[in-house]
Amino acid sequence: MGAHIVGSGVSLPPTIVTNDQLATIMDTSDEWIVKRSGVRQRHIASPGVGSAELAAEAVVNAVANAGLQPGDVDALISATMTPDHYAPGNAPLIQDRAGLGRVGSFEIRQQCAGFLYGLDMADMLLTTGRADTVVVVGAEVHRGYMPYGDSMDILLGLSDADPTPEDIALANDGRAWSVLFGDGAGALVLQRGTETSGVLASTLHSDGTLFDLIHVPGPGFINYPWSTTEQIDDGLHQPQMNGAELFRQAVRLMPESVIAVLDASPYELGDLDLIVAHQANQRILDGIAKQLGVSSEVVASNIANYGNTTAATLPLLFHDCKTNNRVPEGTLLAFTAFGAGAHWGSVLYREPDA
Ligand code: ACO
Repeated sequence: MGAHIVGSGVSLPPTIVTNDQLATIMDTSDEWIVKRSGVRQRHIASPGVGSAELAAEAVVNAVANAGLQPGDVDALISATMTPDHYAPGNAPLIQDRAGLGRVGSFEIRQQCAGFLYGLDMADMLLTTGRADTVVVVGAEVHRGYMPYGDSMDILLGLSDADPTPEDIALANDGRAWSVLFGDGAGALVLQRGTETSGVLASTLHSDGTLFDLIHVPGPGFINYPWSTTEQIDDGLHQPQMNGAELFRQAVRLMPESVIAVLDASPYELGDLDLIVAHQANQRILDGIAKQLGVSSEVVASNIANYGNTTAATLPLLFHDCKTNNRVPEGTLLAFTAFGAGAHWGSVLYREPDA
């Protein structure tokens, strides 16, 4: 009875920023970024465009791709770590803008594993009969995190000024993480399937002892008041990342969870046609292939074009694979992700026969 993916859709902001453009506002290079991460370019949303807008466009596109109407959807799951507003989050904005009617809408916060958790939730809603058509959307506008000062306008083509020494220093401080991220959204539409296709098994994990690997310490309600200018002055509104340790955990835990989800199914590693993994770093993707002993062809990648779009990476990648005929009938694929929390896991999926 596993959930079938019946449609997919994406939304990407039109502005593309290359590594060479980043090198005009900080001390970096295309060579460093490509070699260390595989990222060649990323999309950046224009001022005034938030993740709810991108998410709503992706939902509308996915529903149309499924051959359905927005009114056919009876539950929405929104995953983001960059909502337009801290509260009440993006879900009701997406529900309204995508014209879904007054359906229940969830807002979940598992960062890079957010879409994976949403997929599992959708499967539960469908297999328990609580819903017939569910949309899961992952969307991010990381622009607000970026430590670029007024240089952001240079990247967006809104200013011809030269970057100031202060803004170059600011960008250099955050260059180890900021160059990795990009903006975008992707959505999948799911309906109840059969015993032998669709979502076959899931495994989800969290480990709060890994909280410090990547987190955004302020603003937050442990503080009084919860948001202050000092937090911004200290850069606490930006991700604090232990890149090397994050890398090690991601390369260990995603392959482990792929094996676990296969063990919970009638299939073996050799049956797996495709791995749709979170796109944080090409070297992590290569590490997954090595750990599992599968060809690098099996581990799909589009990080060069989009960078790390956090909750949007899995649906963006699935949509790309589908569009490029990499998901023919009967394809056995594993979605897998690792992200802040830490949260991670895998979902095993078999593309239905016609
Ligand atoms: N351009 C040029 N040089 C740079 C840059 C840059 N953008 N960033 C860092 N450097 C320099 C460093 O200062 C350092 O210089 P030094 O040797 O003189 O001190 C050198 O390059 C090496 O830096 P490292 O941090 O050791 O580089 P590493 O090879 O570890 O790569 C990276 C860093 C890309 C961040 C890697 O560790 C990584 O990808 N980690 C995982 C990140 C990840 O998964 N993020 C997603 C999180 S999940 C979520 O939920 C959001």
